[in-house]
Amino acid sequence: MPEKKEQDLMQKIVSLSKRRGFVFPASEIYGGFANSYTYGPYGVLLKNNIKNLWWKKFVLQREDIVGIDGPIILHPKAWKASGHLDGFSDALVDCKNCKSRFRADHLVEDATGKDLEGKLDELKKVLDEEIDCPNCSKRDWTDVRNFNLMFSTKTSVVEGKEQEIAYLRPETAGAIFLEFKNVLDSTRVKVPFGIAQIGKAFRNEIVAGNFIFRLREFEQMEIEYFISPDDDWESIFEEWLLLQEEFAFELGVKKENIRRYEHPKEKLSHYSKKTVDIEFNYPFGGFKELFGMAHRGDFDLSAHSKFSGEKLEYQDPKTGKKYIPHVLEPTFGLDRSILVALLCAYQEEEVNGEIRTVMKFPKRIAPIQVAVFPLLKNKPELVKKARDVFNFLKKDFVCEFDDNGNIGKRYRRQDEIGTPYCVTIDFDALDNNSVTVRDRDTMEQTRVNLDELADYLKERF
Ligand code: GAP
Repeated sequence: MPEKKEQDLMQKIVSLSKRRGFVFPASEIYGGFANSYTYGPYGVLLKNNIKNLWWKKFVLQREDIVGIDGPIILHPKAWKASGHLDGFSDALVDCKNCKSRFRADHLVEDATGKDLEGKLDELKKVLDEEIDCPNCSKRDWTDVRNFNLMFSTKTSVVEGKEQEIAYLRPETAGAIFLEFKNVLDSTRVKVPFGIAQIGKAFRNEIVAGNFIFRLREFEQMEIEYFISPDDDWESIFEEWLLLQEEFAFELGVKKENIRRYEHPKEKLSHYSKKTVDIEFNYPFGGFKELFGMAHRGDFDLSAHSKFSGEKLEYQDPKTGKKYIPHVLEPTFGLDRSILVALLCAYQEEEVNGEIRTVMKFPKRIAPIQVAVFPLLKNKPELVKKARDVFNFLKKDFVCEFDDNGNIGKRYRRQDEIGTPYCVTIDFDALDNNSVTVRDRDTMEQTRVNLDELADYLKERF
């Protein structure tokens, strides 16, 4: 059981997220819709900042990685080739008495410590012999069966043609393999190189939950990094793990809160040489996956070659040798990145006998960079000057104007959304053209001349 303090942290994050416009439970006016969330005005800014940080780090600042943006609905054959149609499933069991539904492997592992993933008969035997329903305490289980996690849909009817079942992508990686040849033919990439993509993925998770940790509709940031079968894959793999950890630090994660978990060899897919999860110490249940890193051999390109009939090869420009590249796959969950950024930013501090809640996001991902306040709302000359400052700063920074309530309340509100700097226009500003800049973390206030304000702030971002 997670400790009370940790459970409290999770509740505080959920409540602050709603109260301050980061994340709302979706479809609330209809009574809510399980496990779906809306990123609110500050949530979407945070999300975009994290996406941009990732894109900049892994695409724009590298010469060996290019990006694509593929469709959510691919040709259905692609999921046959990738193995998702036959194998992307969880083992399900229902309690016949109370109709609750569970992941059979999770129930068995939690109760006995046995890892029987994929072994349906053995799971059923352990359930019947040893495990009561966690909901109603009866023991009356259905058979354990596989449940495919892909959401299906139907393509529109064209006259003379049957509707075809298509699938919402369960990961963004698929489209990358399908565009391997187009990227090779249209750009100047040479092995080793990567193709990156950010986008939504959909999984009909049986047990979703823990806020935005496990969703049915979520976003991934993925790279397929193509290497030669002769390359020293182990050192490239290690470099990627270090980069993934570095990205976690850029979200505000402390070193002691992440670790690597290497999947045991006997549980790897037949084509994989190594798979490692970067795990974060979440307040619910401890270390769980944040990012993943996998060696996938030539499985995907070979499978798509076979199913499509199109050769997905690479010709070495120096030797002329043709081969199917191997692939390393660093994958990052965007929603989990947001959750981790929220968890790591949250701080409570005692200030003059009161508790101040402050989201100490790394400045680069803070939703609002600068808030601008007139000291008093009812002094038109202050409001006008503050508006001028706001209009000037918003060309370079993401700004918010606020003249509501007393200044202390405005600071507290900006602390709760993690705004690194608040600029206040007081009467001195009218006399000597200087304003106060208040630092979120130290709460120190510095007088800065208006002519130097933009540079002062730029230096600090
Ligand atoms: N292409 C590889 C792949 O999809 P994965 O471990 O299944 O690997 C990658 O997913 C990342 O996507 C995970 O590390 C996690 O951050 C995120 N993720 C997976 N399932 C999720 C879900 N149901 N809700 C939110 N994020 C999820």
